[in-house]
Amino acid sequence: MNIKSTLPVLSKLLVKWYKENSRTLPWRINRDPYRIWISEVMLQQTTVTAVIPFYERFMERFPNLRDLASATIEEVYGHWAGLGYYSRARNLHRAAQELAKINFPQTANELIQYPGFGPYTSRAVASLAFSEPVGVLDGNVIRVLTRVHGLQIAWWKPEEKNKLQKLSDQLAQLQDPYLMNQALMELGATVCTPKKPACLICPWMKHCVSFENQSQMTIPRQKPRKKSEIWVWKPQVIRKGSQICLAENHYVPFLKKTLLFPGQAEISKKKPKKFDLRHTITHHNIYIQIDSKVKLKGSIKGAKWVEISEIKTHNPSILLQKVLHHCFKNK
Ligand code: ADE
Repeated sequence: MNIKSTLPVLSKLLVKWYKENSRTLPWRINRDPYRIWISEVMLQQTTVTAVIPFYERFMERFPNLRDLASATIEEVYGHWAGLGYYSRARNLHRAAQELAKINFPQTANELIQYPGFGPYTSRAVASLAFSEPVGVLDGNVIRVLTRVHGLQIAWWKPEEKNKLQKLSDQLAQLQDPYLMNQALMELGATVCTPKKPACLICPWMKHCVSFENQSQMTIPRQKPRKKSEIWVWKPQVIRKGSQICLAENHYVPFLKKTLLFPGQAEISKKKPKKFDLRHTITHHNIYIQIDSKVKLKGSIKGAKWVEISEIKTHNPSILLQKVLHHCFKNK
């Protein structure tokens, strides 16, 4: 059977299943585009269970677009600490400042113009808040679509991804786009899970190519990992009383454009013999050699003195706290 001809029956079965089995989640209580947007950005980095407490705290402090737009970036960081990918918090804040001046755009094509709105977020907000018939494609949806159709494709390649995007779009056109997209994500999150899919309770079982030939564990194919890199980082920890010197980072490839200790860094073929700490951020394996004896000579470009006790609000990454703790643990 060709894929296209199965879509009407798949879409019907899935929406029916969703209506009977969906979880009540805090971003599903209404169709407020702001609430949906924040949830979709948070959900890109971790699971529903992990996101909920962060989401509720964020919504309590920034209940709407205007509250987020008028907050300082330090406060936004403070509420993002622990979620990782801090550039997302920065983009959220910048987009909020632009969006607060206008009505929330209602189509994916308009939304994609704003900071941090990629294809996924734009489509999620347009379909979930405004019922635009566009499909979403995240890890969950990639998994359910490749499995049900038995697609052993290199889904991370743009041309293959486009094919999946088209399938998701077609599904969103066959049913209420809100229900269809939530249902695809829900199926991926609760039934068609990566390791132990619960095929026997799946509404698509009878139509699933992967179930039929038991290829669930090899579909979707695993995306080749980015090669990891060893970096030797020598941060300068310069203290003046209760304050510490930070500067906008343009010299190391991790935590770009955030406030970081000034210093030096180089990529290396092997790990150094001596180091104070080790830390990993995505594919960067960081060996840290702290330079805490430095006296401030001349001026450091873009330097900013911040209270040590408030460092989290300037840069929420745990890396800074690790370095500070190492320097001052005995003092
Ligand atoms: N993952 C990403 N978006 C989601 C949503 N709206 N519901 C459940 N899981 C999700």
